[in-house]
Amino acid sequence: MIILGIETSCDETAAAVIEGGKNGISILSNIVASSQDMHAKTGGIIPEQAARQQVLSIIPVIEQALKEAKLDKNQLDAIAVTVGPGLIGSLLVGVETAKTLSLLWNKPLVPVNHLVGHLYANWLEKTPEFPALGLVVSGGHTDLVLMKGHGNLEWIGGTRDDAAGEAFDKTARLLNLGYPGGPAISGGAEKFLEKNSHRQLNLFPRPMLDDSSFDWSFSGLKTAVLREVQNKTLSEADKNKYAAEIQEAIVDCLVTKSVRAIDRYKPKSFLLAGGVAANKRLREKFSSEFETKKSMAAFHVAKPSYCTDNAAYIASCAFFNYLPKKWQEVTALPELTITGS
Ligand code: KG4
Ligand code: ZN
Repeated sequence: MIILGIETSCDETAAAVIEGGKNGISILSNIVASSQDMHAKTGGIIPEQAARQQVLSIIPVIEQALKEAKLDKNQLDAIAVTVGPGLIGSLLVGVETAKTLSLLWNKPLVPVNHLVGHLYANWLEKTPEFPALGLVVSGGHTDLVLMKGHGNLEWIGGTRDDAAGEAFDKTARLLNLGYPGGPAISGGAEKFLEKNSHRQLNLFPRPMLDDSSFDWSFSGLKTAVLREVQNKTLSEADKNKYAAEIQEAIVDCLVTKSVRAIDRYKPKSFLLAGGVAANKRLREKFSSEFETKKSMAAFHVAKPSYCTDNAAYIASCAFFNYLPKKWQEVTALPELTITGS
């Protein structure tokens, strides 16, 4: 089955063509156009501007995806599109384009939840076994879910306030490191760690680790960083040190609670997903946990470019959860949760 995926939930305009079959997924093309450089100038996303950029990029990106896949539209079996969650203006561009193409080309249309889609980046290269425990860490969401099978998701925990990605982005802003904050913090931290690999990093709090739930809270980190850096003139080296401290605090919280959830639910696989899953330190720390506890689940994380927003995982999700809808029934759902409510 050949599926065209379309993703426009935030500041990336993405289209991909995949072929799904008994042996898994082949990616025929995967095009991502980002308006991040534009948002870097304002230190964050202005939704209206992101949506306008989506309008400019969507048709060329879809054309490029078909061209690179060396396919004609007639060879497509279905179209998959992100319906939510995300910025309403951005989502509408992808959803309305997909609906129009579905009608014009007479192709089935599969609506995809962006957060569930992130988990399916882990099916692009391998085939994880069920039951699986999935951690989705993106710019706006932090959710831990138990997957007993395709389409069978149970939410077991998440953030009570800011998402992990938001914690990276907002603290990076406090350090004047630019947008998006995750890669900026990660880059600064790496420079610090090159020279200080054995330094204890425990300056900032790790909230809720004593709590028995599988929930997180990241909003206090912003305040702690603000208190620490306000009224100080920071050198490049200071910023890198704080970046390492911030990263370690976020990574510690995510890994500690996830490992506890693995002990409790004993899944066969653990799936790390979402833009923050591109973080090198987070990947390393999870890997070393799985190395030491050989009896734990199999650890899955896609390559970094598949973790951040793209349309290949949207199409992959549609392949494994093939539930087409009439185009008239598909709408953008900006507040959608990972379990579909
Ligand atoms: O999933 P994603 O690409 O978009 C959303 O669905 O939100 O996630 C974006 C988030 C941003 O907060 C960004 O700062 C973060 O992922 N991110 C990272 C890294 N790359 C992207 N965070 C930490 N380290 C990274 N290398
Ligand atoms: Zn995302």
